[in-house]
Amino acid sequence: MTSAAQKLVAHLDAHFSDFLSYWQSHMYIADNDKYIDHVMHNGIAVFQLVKDTLLHSASNRENIEQLAYKIAKERAETNMSIGEFVYNTNLGRRLVIKYALQSTLSIEELLPLIDEINCVFDQFLFYAVTKYSELKEAELREKNLFITQSHKDRLTLLGQMSSSFVHEFRNPLTAIIGFIQLLKFEHPGLPYLDIIDHELQQLKFRISQFLHASRKEIVESEKEIFSLLQLFEEIIEFLYASIVDGDVKISVSIDPSIHIFAYKDQLRQVFINILLNSIEAVKEKAKPRCIYIDACRQDKSVYIKITNNGPPIPEELVQTIFEPFFTTKKLGTGIGLYICKKIIEDHGGQITCTSNEQMTSFSIRLPA
Ligand SMILES: Nc1ncnc2c1ncn2[C@@H]1O[C@H](COP(=O)(O)OP(=O)(O)O)[C@@H](O)[C@H]1O
Ligand SMILES: [Mg+2]
Repeated sequence: MTSAAQKLVAHLDAHFSDFLSYWQSHMYIADNDKYIDHVMHNGIAVFQLVKDTLLHSASNRENIEQLAYKIAKERAETNMSIGEFVYNTNLGRRLVIKYALQSTLSIEELLPLIDEINCVFDQFLFYAVTKYSELKEAELREKNLFITQSHKDRLTLLGQMSSSFVHEFRNPLTAIIGFIQLLKFEHPGLPYLDIIDHELQQLKFRISQFLHASRKEIVESEKEIFSLLQLFEEIIEFLYASIVDGDVKISVSIDPSIHIFAYKDQLRQVFINILLNSIEAVKEKAKPRCIYIDACRQDKSVYIKITNNGPPIPEELVQTIFEPFFTTKKLGTGIGLYICKKIIEDHGGQITCTSNEQMTSFSIRLPA
């Protein structure tokens, strides 16, 4: 029997030359691009990965990562703007999905397959943009070797590029989402709008996430001294709705005298990520659902521990949860803990997880 994935792949293959030529004629590429001959090959290789993933329905992460690195290197060498590269990739994504929607499969059969397609493209972009940024950053470091490292220098190439992406992508997306709302209002009976809206919201969230992850240290704010207790009080207020909704009891035991010198917004994001994960975890269990936050100072470090009494994380996974895209949730992105780890390590600290039947704890050490 032919599976839905096999049918879809056959359908895509049948129209492959159509969308390849459309892609080729609508993408951005300079006439003198050194790797212009590779571009078509690369597009075909990405398409092949999409098909492999659909057919074997298994994670293809290593292959995606390898291909993304190779292409990122070429793009970095030719100095292509990353915006154009992302555009070309997303054009490919759009075409694959467009043709997928024209297949004879039902929407129920298609949705999970489209999700897999999006996942391949998301991972590909994540690795490619991360690598590209790293390469550009290395290039920049070399250039800056003889220049004093001033505040302004850091905001060169990479910084400007990354922050302009965020806008380049978010603005049109926000406009599209707005017009979808208008369409919904003016034509309440129009089908598919909810699906389109939902997919766009996801895309928006994912773009912000992976752009954030690929962004190296952009100094938008300054490090500051702040009270840890106060930060947690702000966060708990911010998460109030989720806490009440999950019927979770939160106990905080932090010495009010503990202050840290750090990027407050970044640490806020770390703690929000961990607390949201904890709330989601305890919700899987019967009450009482508890989260304990405690912190202490020892020598030159501050130790922060966030514990919950949710279901345990299997021993073999306590390392893996920090890897990008590892998620066990239906609507997870798997990027939260990856970002947490990155932020903590950028601050010269460390984050670890321990888990058993009774408790799961995330422990963070930060220089005081
Ligand atoms: N407190 C926790 N208890 C149990 N599992 C957790 C906890 N925090 C994180 N995890 C596991 O780690 C995975 C990765 O988390 P994260 O990177 O935040 O991505 P996401 O929340 O999108 O799945 C989660 O899918 C979940 O399986
Ligand atoms: Mg999370």
